[in-house]
Amino acid sequence: MTDHIIVEQPSAHPGVQVIRFNRPEKKNAFTRAMYRTMTDALTAANTDANLRVTVFLGTEGSFSAGNDIGDFLATAMGGSMGDELIDFLYALAKSEKPLVSGVDGLAIGIGTTLNLHCDLTIASDRSQFRTPFVDLALVPEAASSLIAPRIMGHQRAFAMLAAGEAFSAEEAREAGLIWKVTTPDEVEHAALAAATKLAAKPPEALKIARDLICGSREEVIARIDVEARHFATRLKSAEARAAFEAFMRR
Ligand code: COA
Repeated sequence: MTDHIIVEQPSAHPGVQVIRFNRPEKKNAFTRAMYRTMTDALTAANTDANLRVTVFLGTEGSFSAGNDIGDFLATAMGGSMGDELIDFLYALAKSEKPLVSGVDGLAIGIGTTLNLHCDLTIASDRSQFRTPFVDLALVPEAASSLIAPRIMGHQRAFAMLAAGEAFSAEEAREAGLIWKVTTPDEVEHAALAAATKLAAKPPEALKIARDLICGSREEVIARIDVEARHFATRLKSAEARAAFEAFMRR
């Protein structure tokens, strides 16, 4: 458990579980403990009939700056990566309930790619989506190399995942990464309202509809595994270590 993740079931939003990233001093960069807490919440929702939709929220101006680069550096220097990240990716891909996200501001690395597993994402107009995997000498994760080209086409997926180009909220909406754009003041309300509406729908029909729309989980899991093997090797590379050290030295 960590207080960098707050899991709540707000009484004003029946059936909705909120997973809030709460490490604003580090732009909500994810630590291993944060992944573990999020995985537990997602897994618990699968078997709790009272929890019908999970919503990811960040803090003002920061959705998430991605994986904690200090944790990456520790792995690059010989430490274990642990299972927390991969377990979180599996939990996202295997979620049996709809996932909604409300993005305000920075959405970097997994802060972008987790939205590929969300069914509805609403972002504020000041949001920025960016995956600097290759700049960090890493490779795409979270099955983004499979899902992103499908939804946005090769060129935009390449620009995002390989070239590391930033996408504005409007560009992300045009690319199909997100559903709607609002003002920063409205984004949380809009995400919670969308989730509350979903939570009131007949859950069995919603589950079947979602499963049909999402398609094969096996393919997504298989891609998560292939990416993870490359990712683990890259984390130990000299060029990745140099990139992490450069960030930590800034
Ligand atoms: N891992 C660890 N710490 C991070 C972090 C990350 N991914 N992102 C931000 N932080 C920390 C900074 O080191 C800084 O800590 P400090 O105050 O102790 O020095 C704090 O969060 C604030 O970040 P800062 O860089 O000062 O804010 P900014 O507004 O100038 O820039 C970012 C914000 C997110 C653009 C910039 O921090 C950044 O590029 N972070 C790395 C993003 C990244 O590459 N993630 C991995 C993707 S795979």
